[in-house]
Amino acid sequence: MTEIPDHLLQRTRSRRQALGLPVSEGDAGGGAAPAAEPAAGVAVPGASGAASPPKGPVAPSGPVETPRPEPQPVPHYVQAYRKRKKIPIWAMPAVLALPLWAVLYAGTLTEPPTTEVTLLAEGGEVFSNCSSCHGATGGGGAGPALTDGAVLATFPDPVDHVKWVITGSGGATGGVYGAEGKPSAGGMPTFAETLTLEETVAVVLHERETLSGETIEDSAEMWGDLGRLIEDQAVLEAGATVTEEEVTEVLTRLGEESGIEIGAEEE
Ligand code: HEC
Repeated sequence: MTEIPDHLLQRTRSRRQALGLPVSEGDAGGGAAPAAEPAAGVAVPGASGAASPPKGPVAPSGPVETPRPEPQPVPHYVQAYRKRKKIPIWAMPAVLALPLWAVLYAGTLTEPPTTEVTLLAEGGEVFSNCSSCHGATGGGGAGPALTDGAVLATFPDPVDHVKWVITGSGGATGGVYGAEGKPSAGGMPTFAETLTLEETVAVVLHERETLSGETIEDSAEMWGDLGRLIEDQAVLEAGATVTEEEVTEVLTRLGEESGIEIGAEEE
């Protein structure tokens, strides 16, 4: 065991004496039975081994107990706090939900961004007008399959694709349609009066990108020519009116949503 220096033991003793506590002999607190001589309290420095039998409760020679301070009177504001009506526990969920509600409410005050539903996602919805003949996933049926790039071969130019959806089989000239001169058997209805330009562009994007794997980069330049449908004879004959505003709006959205410059030349 480590020896406790004498001067420290001396300090403990005189401190205990000053407080009227029993002074232990030998090592202060280190021994198994710290000897204590209450009342007598005479320190015998250096007299080790003169152990007297422990009497009564022996105060440990560790921390000295200081007299407890008088309990302070409870301040009036603390009393008021203790007495006041508290929020009942069952109301807590509502209280805790308030900040969340505030955030949600603030969200309703700002206009939702127009890009929230992208043209492409919208096209997936519009395709419900086509799936009865072309299959839910474009696999074909009464109408030809629109998957595996078939539709891209028929319409390399997306504006021709849009025009076809507006006119339907009525747009086939000389019994053929598309870039490869596919023989037209008829049966594709016109959507001139059923779909807006935006919806038509959306469903065309769905067929080209989702069903056939094209990316907007592949046809960004050709999309820029969408405005030619405004005065297209077949489109007008089909009964559709494509306006400049519609064209600008659709192309602006397409550019914003894709981050691609529509109408710019391909690199
Ligand atoms: C009533 C059935 C029917 C519906 C509905 C229909 N189509 Fe068609 N579609 C056809 C038929 C039939 C053809 C072949 C046309 C022909 O031979 O003249 C065709 C051809 C096409 C083609 C050319 C594909 C190719 O590679 O030859 C595209 C593109 C197309 N449809 C898109 C659409 C879109 C988009 C819609 C929905 C907005 C739609 N179709 C709705 C029956 C339909």
